[in-house]
Amino acid sequence: MEQTIHERMAAFGYREMRTPAFESLDLFERGIGPETEIVNKEMYTFTDLSGKFLALKPESTASVIRAYLENNLNREAPLARIYYLDTLFRQERPQKGRFRQFHQFGAEAIGSPHPEQDIEIISLAYDLCNRFGPDLTIRLNTIGEPDSRKPFLTLLQKSLEPHAAALAPLDRGRLQSNPLRIFDSKDQNTQDLLDRHAPLIHEHVSPADSGHFATVMAGLKALGLPVTHDPKLVRGLDYYTRTTFEIIATGLGSQDAVCGGGRYDHLVEELGGPSIPAVGFAAGMERLLMAAGDQLAAQVPVSQVDVYFIFNDQAAMQPVLELAREVRAAGYSVMVETLRRSMKAQFREANRNGARAVLIMGADELAAGSVTLKVMETGHQDTVALAGVGELLAGHLRPTGQVAGH
Ligand code: HAM
Repeated sequence: MEQTIHERMAAFGYREMRTPAFESLDLFERGIGPETEIVNKEMYTFTDLSGKFLALKPESTASVIRAYLENNLNREAPLARIYYLDTLFRQERPQKGRFRQFHQFGAEAIGSPHPEQDIEIISLAYDLCNRFGPDLTIRLNTIGEPDSRKPFLTLLQKSLEPHAAALAPLDRGRLQSNPLRIFDSKDQNTQDLLDRHAPLIHEHVSPADSGHFATVMAGLKALGLPVTHDPKLVRGLDYYTRTTFEIIATGLGSQDAVCGGGRYDHLVEELGGPSIPAVGFAAGMERLLMAAGDQLAAQVPVSQVDVYFIFNDQAAMQPVLELAREVRAAGYSVMVETLRRSMKAQFREANRNGARAVLIMGADELAAGSVTLKVMETGHQDTVALAGVGELLAGHLRPTGQVAGH
């Protein structure tokens, strides 16, 4: 999975960034938003010996932007295409598809305000997720710019207040603190109330926001991607502007979002940088593995090593180790017996590891200063003096230099 991620990210021109396991607590409070569940309830926080407030990373975007600014990447180029593979921590109730320590891969394109950048990010996310999970759909929405959101939030509060008593307790609390998040409720009563009484945000954004949304939607459709408009998709982090999207897998139960992301045009500025627009996504690797099931297991290559080195007299150990080093230097992958098993057991082990050839230094070879090569693929067998091993191998086995399936 990781290998595919590195390859596909490179195919889109993204470069890897690694950020630390923990950051200053206020980075996430400012970045994700103080009224979000991640910041309110889910972070693992601690103080270090100097009394600084720190948090294990619950997501990577804020961390990437912090590092982007600290390293002046904005001065290096007008656009930064960054990707990551990361281990993250959220104190959520563990359940199917929801873990307290989990893994994401993601990408952030920092610099372009244009819809083609959203299209690139969403197609990259889909391209990658689709290699792992079958039956995926993309849900897309726009939540506009903060300016157009303010009057909408007042309207939303007004339309739901008369029905506050019927809302789930958690959603009633959100009515004051973060009303947009009510759309994300898992409660069916709340969802019914929303369907009957709530205005929808995409109908209240500016003409420029609508135009941006329409271009992204049309662009994704033209690329043949399975995208639908989900007018209730608002996402759980406060930094989003305009585009929000998720990729959903069938058959995962309630935690069916394998990927989420969107545009965040003000985060760089909110974290102390200049005004630079950005868009990105992150995908949950455990969820994708669950969605992939056996399909992914079938793609894992069977174990295959170029050469397994067999010997059973301890006097042969040093020459074998030296020869193994030479053979590796010639580009072959080599495994050497270290359990001092019988010759028969070693042959079995060579087969189990899918050895394409074995080199054998038995008692006869040791006495003669030679080694025997047996190529499994062709059945060819030959004994040569130690100095001739390189030439013999080169004539009979193309080196891959890898141990597949590891
Ligand atoms: P997020 O929606 O919080 O977004 O997480 C993205 C994905 O990570 C989810 O769709 C899910 O697959 C996975 N995920 C989240 N929490 C858990 C968990 N507790 N256990 C297992 N998997 C989980 C973000 O993190 C944003 N930083 C995405 C982004 C990047 N937006 C812009 N750029």
